[in-house]
Amino acid sequence: MVKICCIGAGYVGGPTMAVIALKCPSIEVAVVDISVARINAWNSDQLPIYEPGLDEVVKQCRGKNLFFSTDIEKHVSEADIIFVSVNTPTKTQGLGAGKAADLTYWESAARMIADVSKSNKIVVEKSTVPVRTAEAIEKILTHNSKGIKYQILSNPEFLAEGTAIQDLFNPDRVLIGGRETPEGQKAIQALKDVYAHWVPEDRIICTNLWSAELSKLAANAFLAQRISSVNAMSALCEATGADVSQVSHAVGKDSRIGPKFLNASVGFGGSCFQKDILNLVYICECNGLTEVASYWKQVIKVNDYQKNRFVNRIVSSMFNTVSGKKIAVLGFAFKKDTGDTRETPAIDVCKGLLGDKARLSIYDPQVTDDQIQRDLSMNKFDWDHPVHLQPMSPTTVKQVSVVWDAYEATKDAHGLCILTEWDEFKTLDYQRIFDNMQKPAFVFDGRSIVNPEKLREIGFIVYSIGKPLDPWLRDMPAVA
Ligand code: NAI
Repeated sequence: MVKICCIGAGYVGGPTMAVIALKCPSIEVAVVDISVARINAWNSDQLPIYEPGLDEVVKQCRGKNLFFSTDIEKHVSEADIIFVSVNTPTKTQGLGAGKAADLTYWESAARMIADVSKSNKIVVEKSTVPVRTAEAIEKILTHNSKGIKYQILSNPEFLAEGTAIQDLFNPDRVLIGGRETPEGQKAIQALKDVYAHWVPEDRIICTNLWSAELSKLAANAFLAQRISSVNAMSALCEATGADVSQVSHAVGKDSRIGPKFLNASVGFGGSCFQKDILNLVYICECNGLTEVASYWKQVIKVNDYQKNRFVNRIVSSMFNTVSGKKIAVLGFAFKKDTGDTRETPAIDVCKGLLGDKARLSIYDPQVTDDQIQRDLSMNKFDWDHPVHLQPMSPTTVKQVSVVWDAYEATKDAHGLCILTEWDEFKTLDYQRIFDNMQKPAFVFDGRSIVNPEKLREIGFIVYSIGKPLDPWLRDMPAVA
């Protein structure tokens, strides 16, 4: 029986391995992690991450051919194929701080593989890593090899949080990069055989190692660039009276462009886009490609601009101050159907409002009070002038309350902003919300989910990103 071990039981390792176990009953899959709490949660009824469909998949295989364990050495030494799916955050200190990927976790995983292995292994990069990381990993493994042979493959993951199970069941493509030697090709075939249990052959793309590593960074950069492009257009729409949803629709009808990923919003978030683009920028700079680096950096700058613009709209429409005013925040996760808050635009928007002394009442169906307080108590990393993360003042955190109901959040509020596109926000009783709010009552829709005309009929003053402005907002000072 083929044995797979995955190091890292996070948003990628957990769901990916659960699907491999489900689709390949003849393979034994062990997911290991240094975090005891995470492994305990994977073994309980309350999984550590929220992802539609994940519970069912885990329930079907856990204890049969899917195991979650902290006994890393045992499972690594027994495995034929080892996936490494540890976190690769942006470095916050030292050389390349603020841009380069921090490979500390990866390196320690590689050293541990070298220490405990007693047979030949295929080691698969599942984490997103800088191009040519496989070379470094190969060096660590071969210099400690005790005669054991390792083949390194790059198999980046393209799942999106919120639709992870669907994406894994039916991937657009599976990408496998390996050495162009006979041993490398054999290793590619072994991994291909795993995916071939459910992925059609023409969707499995095989390349060399460096192309696979770079393709993942490139794909994320292209996706984020689309969002920044439509967000840049949203600012121009507001200035000219065009409607960004009509513009996106018209643009997306061009088959060369396509309709997906063209929704204007308060900005992109998630653990990957910013980190991977910063990493791409760093690699370009290291290769002397200054123009290419600044081209991609602009994608992040527009994203920051969009979040600032949203805060400025709120403050300027509410008579240029939100000091002491209650603002309801609906949604904190970086997108719907996940509880993940990493790099969520809500953090920057909330901090912007707190900077103007607003009182915030936050509701998100999947994010806990603790998580929100933690996110808001960290200082934003300054990419150009890196300093270590420091806690915010306790008074700021006191201005934040986290509630478990949208109606509670909006009660007596002066304004409400929608920062995540949860479906339940589309069907709220906005008349009831209006009746219980201070007047004038404002809605700031950062995800284009409400119908501005209907809310205006109720009596709200409505700002919806990229849509023609409410007469109220048109008379307010222009926002930078
Ligand atoms: P995560 O932070 O949720 O999970 C990583 C896990 O690795 C943690 O549970 C951590 O305790 C564990 N870990 C770290 N060092 C370890 C070690 N030496 N031994 C055992 N366990 C160790 O991260 P996530 O989101 O799963 O991302 C993993 C990688 O996949 C990253 O490189 C990310 O860029 C990439 N990726 C993430 C996607 C996402 O949607 N979250 C999508 C595609 C790729």
